[in-house]
Parts: sequence; structure tokens; C-alpha cells
Amino acid sequence: MKFENKFENINDIGKGKKYMIFTYGCQMNEHDSEEIAWILENMGYSPAINKEESNLIIFNTCSVRENADLKVYGQLGALKALKREKPDLTIAVCGCMSQQESVRNFIMDKFKHVDIIFGTNNIHKLPQLINNHLQTGETVVDIVEESREIVESIDSHRKYDFKAFVNIMYGCNNFCTYCIVPYTRGREKSRKPESILKEIETLAEKGYKEITLLGQNVNSYGKNLKNPYTFAQLLRDINKIEGIERIRFMTSHPKDLSDELIYAMRDCDKVCKHLHLPVQSGSDKILKNMNRKYTKENYLELVKKIKTEIPDIALTTDIIVGFPGETEEDFEETLDLVKKVRYDSAYTFLYSKREGTIAAKQEEQVPEDIKHKRFQRLLDTLYPISYEINSSYIGQTVKVLVEDISKNDETVLSGRTDSSKLVHFKGNKELIGTFVDVKITNVKTFTLEGHIV
Ligand code: SAH
Ligand code: SF4
Ligand code: F3S
Repeated sequence: MKFENKFENINDIGKGKKYMIFTYGCQMNEHDSEEIAWILENMGYSPAINKEESNLIIFNTCSVRENADLKVYGQLGALKALKREKPDLTIAVCGCMSQQESVRNFIMDKFKHVDIIFGTNNIHKLPQLINNHLQTGETVVDIVEESREIVESIDSHRKYDFKAFVNIMYGCNNFCTYCIVPYTRGREKSRKPESILKEIETLAEKGYKEITLLGQNVNSYGKNLKNPYTFAQLLRDINKIEGIERIRFMTSHPKDLSDELIYAMRDCDKVCKHLHLPVQSGSDKILKNMNRKYTKENYLELVKKIKTEIPDIALTTDIIVGFPGETEEDFEETLDLVKKVRYDSAYTFLYSKREGTIAAKQEEQVPEDIKHKRFQRLLDTLYPISYEINSSYIGQTVKVLVEDISKNDETVLSGRTDSSKLVHFKGNKELIGTFVDVKITNVKTFTLEGHIV
């Protein structure tokens, strides 16, 4: 792809220069960073091995909880000295923090060494923004509120050559009252099925075996398309693509999980038997205040239906502890739900107040010490269940897609089962990107261990 610029050729700006990208947040951000890397490499930039040798450092930020913001502020502060030594270093901030005016103003005020601020919806403009900064020496700020323009000509420099993220939609319309994402990613917009299928066919031709479809709420995929087409249909169509062996997706909102989707998951042999179904809370009062649009009973019925159709399904979830107004009784409803569903694993979060969201205005914030105690009780309930489910794998032989070698021991490989369990086993790194059969001999709360058979 050539980047157009009326005044001069900006395609060579990065020649002989190096870049680094630091990525925070969810898989959507990880994938955005893969696109940014592709753009930069098309401009001639090559990856740096450290900050010192970098000419361009980009922070792709997350704002979902306060901790995420604080990490980036720490990193930006630490770069002040390097920028003083190396004034031609370009520092850019993008991602969900950039989308919020108050955060943007804070960055511009406190971190004057930041040169470029762009958002989640205008990644394709990066070459022009870098050029503008290099030409003028000024700080360049470019933010688009409206959710991302669908620019099909952008490709990705993907981290792996056997598994890939594929965006199927951008933005979110749900406005869960605690969540900043609808404000940082704009309104929901689905990509056309033809473009998605074409991208996946091309990936399959290149030898990719696993794809993960990304969207904040994949179950509402297709709602804004001209021709009616659902997420379930998309799964069935992707299932036919030769070469693709595993299909995963993130994330499903329980309110939109249709029977049609459950049947598609059941019928499509390539769709992994793993469903991430964030519940957030087990209390009807809290669910209502979160604007989740389902009750504990609705959720449990849904889980029952899924387990009936797909008995070996692995279920995972997200849970927030300490949402404003959460009482001991509300929290116990969450523990009760966890015991009933029996999740394979869960991401657990302490509620974090996000300026601009509806819940941030609620007065009954739960005291920090209570939040922490509840959080620990939640883990004490979740972990034994995860361990018990993992124990049922002992003696079984599972098909694993080999993904990485261990950082500590080059002879140990890791990969994932269809159910998304992380497995460790001895093997040669040549096996990365292939499927192997592993007999499980030992399990931990979060991982399985075994040997190749
Ligand atoms: N769109 C996805 C993921 C959104 S962010 C979904 O709806 O499931 C991932 C998770 O972060 C959420 O599921 C929620 O559990 C958590 N989260 C979001 N905002 C939060 C906040 N203000 N405090 C604590 N956890 C939060
Ligand atoms: Fe946030 Fe809710 Fe949208 Fe998920 S569905 S991104 S939690 S507003
Ligand atoms: Fe974070 Fe934005 Fe993802 S707030 S979780 S990077 S959508």
C-alpha cells in the first residue's frame, strides 16, 4: 500500500529508523498494534530491540481500569530523560486513553515530550501524522470520535504466523454503566462478511490455522449491515474455509447469545468448544444497575441450554467485585452463581471508577477494604472449581496447537487445547505452529502438564 500525500512522498520516512510499540489492554488493542506495525514497516521503519535505539516509540493504551492509565503515565514519565538525550526521538500515544479529552489534556499538560496523540479510530492516518510532526516539530493531535472507518487496505504485521486476530466489528453500543469502552471505541459497526471471509481465506492460503474473531460484542455482529447476516452465519461460512482448523471469538454478551449461535457452535467442527461469557455479577439489582439487560436466572438458563447442546463446552467469564451499591447479599449471589455455573476460569476485577461513565456518578462506592476481602473470597471460590475441572483432564490425550517455548526452559513448549487450556510439555521448538497430541499427567489451577504421544 502506498500512503498518499499531496506534497511529497512519505513512504520512505522510516528508512533506516527503528520503532517500538508498547501495547496495553485487550486483544483488540493487540491487533491494532499489529496494524500499526504493518503501517510503520511499509514506511521503512524496522523493529527496535530497546527504547535507546528507537527513533519512534508508540504507547497503545488502555483505559478500562485506573491501573491501566497509571502504568502508561509511569512509562511516559520515565521517557523524559531519554527524550532530553535524544531530541529527535518521536513519542506517540494512541489507543483508548487518547480518546478521552480529559486524559488527553492531562498528557499534553504533564508530558510535554509527547509528540503525537492519535486515537483508536484513525490508525490509517499515522503516516500523515508522523510526517506532520517531523515537518513542523509541533505536537500533533488527531482524534476521531466516530467509530473507526473501515479501511480494508490496511494489513497487519502479525505476531504469529499460524494464528491470527481478525476484527469483525468495531465499537460498542451497550453502555454498561461501569465501562469506558463505548466512549473510546465509538458506536458499533460491522465489517462486511465478504471482506472478513476474504481476509480469512488469504490467511488460510498463507498457512494460518487458527483465527480469533474480535469484537466487543460479537453476538450483535451484522445488525447494521444492509443485507441481513448474523454471527452464526459467519461462523458457518468460516467453518467451510479450507486450511483453517480452529475458530475462536471474543466477546459474547449474554443478552445477545441466540439459539442460532449455540447451534452453529455445536455444528461447526472447527469452532472451539470454549465460550467466554462475561457475567459481571450474580445479583439482579447490580446487573440492572450495570445495564446488562439480563438476570441471574436468564444467565443460568442460558448456561443450561449451552451445556445441553455442547456438553464438553469450557466456560469462562469476567466478574467485577465492588460495583457501587454492592452489598454482602449481592456479592453472595455472585458466589452462588459461580458455584452453579462452574467456570473453567474467570477474569476477576475490582470495580474501578471511570470518569465519564454513569456508575462513576453513583454515590454508594464500596470501601476499598471490603472490595479486597470480597475479591479474595471470589478467588477462593473460583480456584478449586478450576482445579477440579482441570483434574478431569488427567490421563486424557488432547490436541494442542503449539504456540511458544518457555521463557525459562527452551525444552518446554506451551500451547492450547480446543477448550483454550494452556498446556506445558517437553518438545522441540520446530513444533511451534503445528498440532500435537499431548497426554495430560499433571494439572494446576491454571495450566495442564503432559507429554507428547
Ligand atoms: N466487551 C467485552 C469486554 C469489555 S472490557 C465484554 O463486554 O465482555 C473487559 C472486562 O473488563 C469487562 O468484561 C469487565 O468485567 C471489566 N471492566 C470493564 N470496566 C470496568 C471497570 N470500570 N472496573 C472494573 N472492571 C471493568
Ligand atoms: Fe463495555 Fe459492556 Fe460494551 Fe463490553 S458490552 S465493551 S463491558 S459497554
Ligand atoms: Fe482497554 Fe480499550 Fe480494550 S479500554 S480493554 S484497550 S477496548
